[in-house]
Amino acid sequence: MSLRAQVAGCGGYLPERVMTNDELARRLDTSDAWIRQRTGIGERRIAAAGELTSDLALAAAKRALRHAGISGSDLDLIVLATATPDHTFPATATKVQAQLGMKRGAAFDIQAVCSGFIFALAVADNAIRVGQARTALVIGAETFSRILDWQDRGTCVLFGDGAGALVLRAAPDAGPGGRGMLSTHLHSDGSLYDILYVDGGPSSTGTAGHLRMEGREVFRQAVHHLSEAVEEALAAHGLSGADVDWLVPHQANLRIIDAIGKRLSLRPGQTVVTIERHANTSAASIPLALDEAVGDGRIKPGHLVLMEALGGGLTWGASLVRW
Ligand code: UT7
Repeated sequence: MSLRAQVAGCGGYLPERVMTNDELARRLDTSDAWIRQRTGIGERRIAAAGELTSDLALAAAKRALRHAGISGSDLDLIVLATATPDHTFPATATKVQAQLGMKRGAAFDIQAVCSGFIFALAVADNAIRVGQARTALVIGAETFSRILDWQDRGTCVLFGDGAGALVLRAAPDAGPGGRGMLSTHLHSDGSLYDILYVDGGPSSTGTAGHLRMEGREVFRQAVHHLSEAVEEALAAHGLSGADVDWLVPHQANLRIIDAIGKRLSLRPGQTVVTIERHANTSAASIPLALDEAVGDGRIKPGHLVLMEALGGGLTWGASLVRW
């Protein structure tokens, strides 16, 4: 019997502290109008001093487990996507594993920056398909506030902290119309390493470093690659934009999100947009958006959900799931 990964639950967590555009404009040469117009961002959440990526991940994970009606001891796989781990090693996922009381299987981190959630989803989906795991927790968790250069208006206004999580469970494959993950499509192009990177690291500088980005070039690459990736995901199943119920994109820039929605001829209301309140939470943006749209009843069982993301590497990908 062939197996498929079905979504069993989701959860999200945002730190309490809200940082508005106006607050940033009081200490930087920027404005609420510029940030909203160029990005769609209105505010972002910032982790409290001492609040770590693992804390955000754990809070989101607990909510996802509760939503799925299971406990940590039911899990046999945790894949945590982050570019801002608590420590260089061990993996942040192992800390979450212990805190959830999960004693078997494996927990590890995945590093694909803003595409991390799609990459983590691919790993968990594949593990379930081949029977290596039965119940997996996929987490995207970030504290980008810790790697921002707060003097650089070109980057620091764009990001926020948060975490989201999804529980996947093995189920018999009921074909393309049945519930479950249809496919994930991953890509990278390391020749573009330098257009979005952090200028530190254990092997290079011995410091955590700060995020650096050639925004305009990343933007151009994002529209191009994400358009291809969503079409690749749909074509793999003989589907088109008309079959999609919800687009749940990585939330980096409202103009990128709109461009992909238009490419698929979606109605504006079919795209889940959280960027106004969350900003770019990197690997956490998609599971946070999923959690919101499931929580308010937009995404319902049976809906076809298309996810996409692009991030440093460059890395990018798309995924289709029948919720
Ligand atoms: O999640 C990973 C993937 N990341 C992305 O997808 C991000 C992709 N890039 C973007 O979203 C956009 O490129 C940005 C939002 C980063 C920048 O928007 P842009 O329309 O590409 O602006 P720009 O970088 O071309 O800058 C336009 C102007 C510049 O001034 P001059 O040279 O024209 O005088 C910037 O210095 O806007 C200036 N600027 C700002 N002004 C006010 C840059 N940042 C700010 C700011 N406030 N915060």
